[in-house]
Amino acid sequence: MIFRGTDTTALLTEWAMAELILHPTVQSKLRAEIDSVVGSTGTIQDSHVAQMPYLQAVVKETLRVHPPGPLLSWARLSTDDIQLSNGMVVPAGTTAMVNMWAITHDSSIWTNPDKFDPARFMVSEGGVDIDVRGGDLKLAPFGAGRRVCPGKNLGLVTVSLWVARLVKRFEWGPVESDPIDLSEVLKLSLEMKKPLAAVATARNCV
Ligand code: HEM
Repeated sequence: MIFRGTDTTALLTEWAMAELILHPTVQSKLRAEIDSVVGSTGTIQDSHVAQMPYLQAVVKETLRVHPPGPLLSWARLSTDDIQLSNGMVVPAGTTAMVNMWAITHDSSIWTNPDKFDPARFMVSEGGVDIDVRGGDLKLAPFGAGRRVCPGKNLGLVTVSLWVARLVKRFEWGPVESDPIDLSEVLKLSLEMKKPLAAVATARNCV
């Protein structure tokens, strides 16, 4: 549990912060939402996350563009022949995995899939509210079904809280001499090939 739960949450936070630095208007909009819910001097608690749809949209969009676990179902073996809806058959004894990264970057499913755009999950802005916890296979970054990630709720609230607290306390910008590179490398999880370097400027609040 500890092994699976630490790198995924840390990496998702790192990816989210990288995208927020590359998209300052998204960062400002998120900060405005946070301030409107807790005030500029209030402390963010996990219970506030439910009142912050834009924060949730930022985390969802980060999960879509940079799913920490891009290949689901490592080394699962089919025990019977399985008939798929498209007519293909997966024979018994096949090792199969789901490429969630390919699904979340598929232009037949997502408009401008390479664009980081949290508004696509904002119903108030014409987007769709997708349940990322396994209820919709267009975006199932925690897997789905019997082997779905048991830490999905903890992971979501932890990353949301960390990102919200970082954005509330600091303005985040790039290091001029060390620009952000979104290249990915798949180790145990999907990591930034070049770890994030950023400038944090404290805001005038607690
Ligand atoms: C944002 C954070 C997280 C992401 C993106 C994530 C993603 C995933 C994915 C994709 C799987 C594989 C599902 C499959 O094979 O179909 C998985 C499995 C698992 N995750 Fe997470 N996870 C996160 C956080 C956590 C946390 C916080 C914990 C524990 C506290 C955890 C514990 C586990 C365990 C034990 C499994 C294996 C389940 C099994 O094989 O039956 N994960 N996770």
